[in-house]
Amino acid sequence: MTIAIKSSGDIVSMRVAGRLAAEVLDMLAAHIRPGVTTQQLDRLAHDHIVHVQGATPAPLNYAPPGYVPYPASVCTSINHQVCHGIPNDRPLKNGDILNIDVTVIKDGWHGDTSRMFIVGEGSIQARRLCRITYEAMWKGIIQVRPGARLGDIGHAIQTFAESAGYSVVREFCGHGIGAKFHEEPQVLHYGRPGTLDELQPGMIFTIEPMINAGRREIRELGDGWTIVTKDRSLSAQWEHTVLVTETGYEVLTLSAGTPAAPAFVGERQAAVAAP
Ligand code: MF3
Ligand code: CO
Ligand code: CO
Repeated sequence: MTIAIKSSGDIVSMRVAGRLAAEVLDMLAAHIRPGVTTQQLDRLAHDHIVHVQGATPAPLNYAPPGYVPYPASVCTSINHQVCHGIPNDRPLKNGDILNIDVTVIKDGWHGDTSRMFIVGEGSIQARRLCRITYEAMWKGIIQVRPGARLGDIGHAIQTFAESAGYSVVREFCGHGIGAKFHEEPQVLHYGRPGTLDELQPGMIFTIEPMINAGRREIRELGDGWTIVTKDRSLSAQWEHTVLVTETGYEVLTLSAGTPAAPAFVGERQAAVAAP
């Protein structure tokens, strides 16, 4: 049970991979509208990653133990789909909420990030779920500094999401990332403050809360990948890859189109985050 400490050279490479992953989302954002299929978005992402970025889409044929190989280059999870949705030929419709999760490998290093998109005009409830989930991710990110513990991150996310009336998915979590897609530690999105591993400068992991409008229970579809809410309530997720710095954190999955941090993050912390 050891969490890798990345060298300054590793971190330079991880910044590049993180930026490229975010830039795929920037590119896709311009194409999301009613009538477009997630398969079309997957093809756009694949071609951009391979031919423009000179990188590799990490999900394609990814097959952890017990899984069939993932058949696409990005994950697209719509409405009550929690995560790992597989792109298909169903046209997006007005009011759908869509998570696109992009992981690229550049020069052997992984960058992993996801955002929510609202197709056309979203309902007030759908927009609130997407906003609260974004804020929940940031409540976790701002815990990150040397000496803090993983349980602080989970606790901050859980208390925020539950006080908004939502539930936190337990079965999937953030993860260490680097030369491997998923490595130690597991970053739970619930928990108790002051518990679990202590953060040290040079650790890199994702924070990627999945928040349900209804109950937290999930189930897996017969395709072996897609996770949905058992009660069919809406689910949202955002993800950043984050480095522990000497003074706090640095978000590695930043691009020109990255949404601004919520106001509660504050100027000072944002300055720490982007030195
Ligand atoms: N990108 C997802 C994560 O955040 C993992 C997707 S695995 C896949 O960890 F095979 F479905 F792509
Ligand atoms: Co991830
Ligand atoms: Co991801």
